[in-house]
Amino acid sequence: MALLRRKLKVLVTVMIVNLFIFLLISLNSSQDKDGSHKIHIPSKIFWKKLVPSSPYWNRQQQILDLQNNPVLMANYSATDMPDWLNNTSLTSDPCQPNLKVTTQVKDYNSLPQRFKDFLLYMHCRSYPIMVDQPDICKKPPFLLLAVKSLASHFDRRQAIRQSWGRAGVIANQTVVTVFLLGNTIAGDHQPDLSRMLHYENDFHKDIIQWDYRDSFFNLTVKEVLFLEWIQTRCPGAHFIFKGDDDVFVNTHRILDFLEGLSEPKARDLFVGDVITNAGPHRDKKVKYFIPESMYIGMYPKYAGGGGYLYSGDIAARLHSVSQYVALYPIDDVYTGMCLKKLGLAPEKHKGFRTFNIEEKYRSNPCAYKSLMLVHPRTPQEMIEIWNWLSSPDLNCQ
Ligand SMILES: *[C@@H]1O[C@H](CO)[C@@H](O)[C@H](O)[C@H]1NC(C)=O
Ligand SMILES: *[C@@H]1O[C@H](CO)[C@@H](O)[C@H](O)[C@H]1NC(C)=O
Ligand SMILES: *[C@@H]1O[C@H](CO)[C@@H](O)[C@H](O)[C@H]1NC(C)=O
Ligand SMILES: *[C@@H]1O[C@H](CO)[C@@H](O)[C@H](O)[C@H]1NC(C)=O
Ligand SMILES: *[C@@H]1O[C@H](CO)[C@@H](O)[C@H](O)[C@H]1NC(C)=O
Repeated sequence: MALLRRKLKVLVTVMIVNLFIFLLISLNSSQDKDGSHKIHIPSKIFWKKLVPSSPYWNRQQQILDLQNNPVLMANYSATDMPDWLNNTSLTSDPCQPNLKVTTQVKDYNSLPQRFKDFLLYMHCRSYPIMVDQPDICKKPPFLLLAVKSLASHFDRRQAIRQSWGRAGVIANQTVVTVFLLGNTIAGDHQPDLSRMLHYENDFHKDIIQWDYRDSFFNLTVKEVLFLEWIQTRCPGAHFIFKGDDDVFVNTHRILDFLEGLSEPKARDLFVGDVITNAGPHRDKKVKYFIPESMYIGMYPKYAGGGGYLYSGDIAARLHSVSQYVALYPIDDVYTGMCLKKLGLAPEKHKGFRTFNIEEKYRSNPCAYKSLMLVHPRTPQEMIEIWNWLSSPDLNCQ
């Protein structure tokens, strides 16, 4: 009995609420009746007044977004354009130091030197190529292995050539390996290794070098120059692996994985060790520190820069979209930003171990069999692991 009364009460309440909603709607729509559904066209700009973001990167991105928005720009004549939108360093030579940043970034003077260096050249994306391999992709490779290296890392490059970077010979696949290098600048007191490097390149013909200072914050420059290089020198590459020179890559496993992909999946491939829900570090002592005067917000999903794998098709799309993304000092985050702008996100694959594997498995050959990448590994370890995996006696269940 009590149950029935409760049910009845609920029913009546629901009916009253429905009646109320009906009355509200009919009251509202009755206002239209005499106006016969007129479309209201606003006579003035109806969107919020544009206010510049205060962190420097966010503002540069906002300027790029607006300048590339034809609908918005159509409504600004040269005279009524807000000053902050009109006046950008993009109007002058972007490769001259942009001294405006010294006043536009509010704590510029107290920032560590690497930020000053980055900000002054943030708008420059083109540097001359010094060493090139114009014919290396004459036969378009199935897989292009691109390794970020530094001039002084001769031993790492040689270990890669003798191990995972020689898959092109071992697996008889069209795999091409290249090393991506920047340069040194006079003020950095670096020993001159250019003759050694030329000798190395004469011998191996696998070095690509551009004339810009090879520093951590300039890795994004390396990324955009490499995207450009792919389009001019290796547009036929089916897949690209890009990674550091202190990782072990199980090239055989990567080739197996790629050969097993079906078409739509292969075209949009971007896999790696994906980092989600990260944001800038605010602790000055961390390598990845970014001040609030530079960037505010979360990072998009991004694949850790130790190494990731993507399709040639994605490479072409990243190359075009990168023009519309302001350079950010952390290269893997930057690539995540570009993917986001394409409406894509990197996919996590558990074969990519940029944070290493458990200590107890590190000397177990079988632990590497199903993995694609492990970071970090020394040159000696790279050769050792490669020998384990190449041995016909390797027997893993
Ligand atoms: C915006 O631009 C359009 C096309 O150029 C023009 O017809 C319209 O009057 C403009 N509106 C404002 C508020 O300036
Ligand atoms: C905006 O830029 C154009 C072209 O550079 C210039 O003619 C115009 O005077 C500028 N407007 C303002 C408000 O600075
Ligand atoms: C815009 O340019 C003018 C002239 O070059 C300069 O006086 C002014 O400070 C600039 N404004 C900004 C916000 O950079
Ligand atoms: C490797 O490929 C070449 C050319 O495609 C072929 O002539 C050769 O026999 C292959 N070698 C092996 C071991 O498969
Ligand atoms: C990046 O390279 C350019 C060109 O060599 C250099 O002027 C700039 O200082 C470098 N930036 C950083 C952060 O090292």
